[in-house]
Amino acid sequence: MTTKLQEKITEAAEFIKKQGIEDVEIGLILGSGLGELGDEVGEAKKIKYDQIPHFPVSTVEGHAGQLVYGQLGGKKVLAMQGRFHFYEGYTLEEVTFPIRVMKELGIHSVIVTNAAGGINTSFAQGELMLITDHINYTGVNPLMGPNDPAMGPRFTDMSQAYDVAYQQIVREVAKEMSLDLKEGVYIGYTGPTYETPAEIKMSRIMGADAVGMSTVPEVIVAAHAGLRVIGISCITNLAAGMQESLNHDEVVETTQRVKGTFKALVKNTLAAI
Ligand code: 6GU
Repeated sequence: MTTKLQEKITEAAEFIKKQGIEDVEIGLILGSGLGELGDEVGEAKKIKYDQIPHFPVSTVEGHAGQLVYGQLGGKKVLAMQGRFHFYEGYTLEEVTFPIRVMKELGIHSVIVTNAAGGINTSFAQGELMLITDHINYTGVNPLMGPNDPAMGPRFTDMSQAYDVAYQQIVREVAKEMSLDLKEGVYIGYTGPTYETPAEIKMSRIMGADAVGMSTVPEVIVAAHAGLRVIGISCITNLAAGMQESLNHDEVVETTQRVKGTFKALVKNTLAAI
């Protein structure tokens, strides 16, 4: 079965290949305030999202909205500076389209990053968390609708959506850096509101350690596509009810404060996988 979606993926990938972007090994999705890592890519080739056929265009501040291809940590990476969120009004097909395109370009693994609120009471603002699992609390799933078996199975196993061998490597990399890397479960809400204190209390009882508005759709599609995933959250603030109030400026401020450590962790991880 050749779907309309597959045609769009092929067209986008062909366009990207024509810019000399080939043999990509690892995809990198850089979350809110974390895009600067893309500036460290060596021999960089950049493509603005609005140039790429069928690519959505990013709207949130702090998101450059471009692909950056090149060498990072000795690997050929394709980084997304800025991602698409469901709350912006994009369909889940649009939100996850770049994952499909990166898969088409040859990636075997993807590192997904985000800014998140801390739910675990032992977490502090500015810490980094290795995502070991997630709770899809968005009420939707990007794999709903007809399934193209050429892309992946109808019923995708999410038992090890966050690659277990990679998790161990990230832990070892953090240890080597003397970094107190936290770990835990990410719960995804649609946003764009932050959660209520009651929702955060519920999320903690359900087993979540951090909360955000992204990542879950991309990781589901990555699992469907057979990609190995690493997830890293930057705990930019504590969640509702755990601090006075929440705002996006604080999220950006915290990412700016910890970006050095964040960039080093991702770079060292790339070198180690
Ligand atoms: Cl507290 N909630 C959500 N959904 N996203 C966030 C956040 C909280 N802090 C940073 N991003």
